[in-house]
Amino acid sequence: MERVLSGMRPTGRLHLGHFFGVLKIWLELQEKYECFFFIADWHALTTEYESPFNISNYSKELFLDWLAVGISPEKSTIFLQSAVKEHAELYLLLGMITPTSWLERNPTYKDMIKNLQNKDIATYGFLGYPVLQAADILIYKANKVPVGVDQVPHLELTREIARRFNYLYGIEFFPEPQALLSSVPKVPGIDGRKMSKSYGNAIMLSDSPDEVVKKVRAYVTDIERPRKSDPGDPENRCVAFNLIKLVFSDEEVRDIIEGCKKAQLGCVECKKKLALKVIDVLTPFWERRKEVENTDWKSLLEKGITKAKEVAEETLKEVRKILNFPY
Ligand code: TRP
Repeated sequence: MERVLSGMRPTGRLHLGHFFGVLKIWLELQEKYECFFFIADWHALTTEYESPFNISNYSKELFLDWLAVGISPEKSTIFLQSAVKEHAELYLLLGMITPTSWLERNPTYKDMIKNLQNKDIATYGFLGYPVLQAADILIYKANKVPVGVDQVPHLELTREIARRFNYLYGIEFFPEPQALLSSVPKVPGIDGRKMSKSYGNAIMLSDSPDEVVKKVRAYVTDIERPRKSDPGDPENRCVAFNLIKLVFSDEEVRDIIEGCKKAQLGCVECKKKLALKVIDVLTPFWERRKEVENTDWKSLLEKGITKAKEVAEETLKEVRKILNFPY
């Protein structure tokens, strides 16, 4: 069976963008592949190193959120990066064979250096971020890596590092992993930009029903439709429409489009329906979230860590042998 691996950085609580854009996809993947999902807490350090003290708590919250969504410790191996120290050893070894020019030309790196001007991320660790990511992936010899488009350069680097290792040591050891790009359109935030906690436009999974209602009411809709009696064009002009498509059935979406175009369904009423639907979608999550908090989640995480370690240690043993490092 092919192996899937993906990770998330624990830098804050999750929102609907993560729910529809990432976790729903993981749920499908865990039915079809051998899956490894991990909390990339060392990677969180690249931007949070000045105040790393919350990372552990976010990691716990992330793990509980995953469980509540239905990522299953029975089906998938769920673990914490920093608990599997082998990642760090492989990172060191891969770092030795990775030309710095490959890292410096990485577009995601250049973007982040430019955009995160309030943080000093011009560190060695941040430059090496993709090498650690390559280690995360290659240590499990993963074949497929579900990620967003921003991560495609990192996947390309991972393939290049794998190729270079195989070439240098004359052995077909690491498979070249493929990115699995999500077909889910970007979940819009309240202001129409991509939903993101840092934009303050997100509906958080931890929001209460009242907060959901308030936030959905705040969505910008069709600005060329100031009155209900004006016909709308939801597919081209409504910011909330991508969210509508995610939560309603095809039939319901057709009805909404028709009501909007015929000026029968007003935006206020439509958003009321939308809020209720979002609450419907989140209710099972909220219920499960309370349940899992009271389970022995620590032992579930331990179990995942143990399984991950077994695979990682096996790969490391072989790598040490290939490089002739007997200890
Ligand atoms: N860089 C990824 C992100 O920011 C997180 C990540 C770390 C990751 N290691 C990974 C994703 C390995 C996939 C595979 O989203």
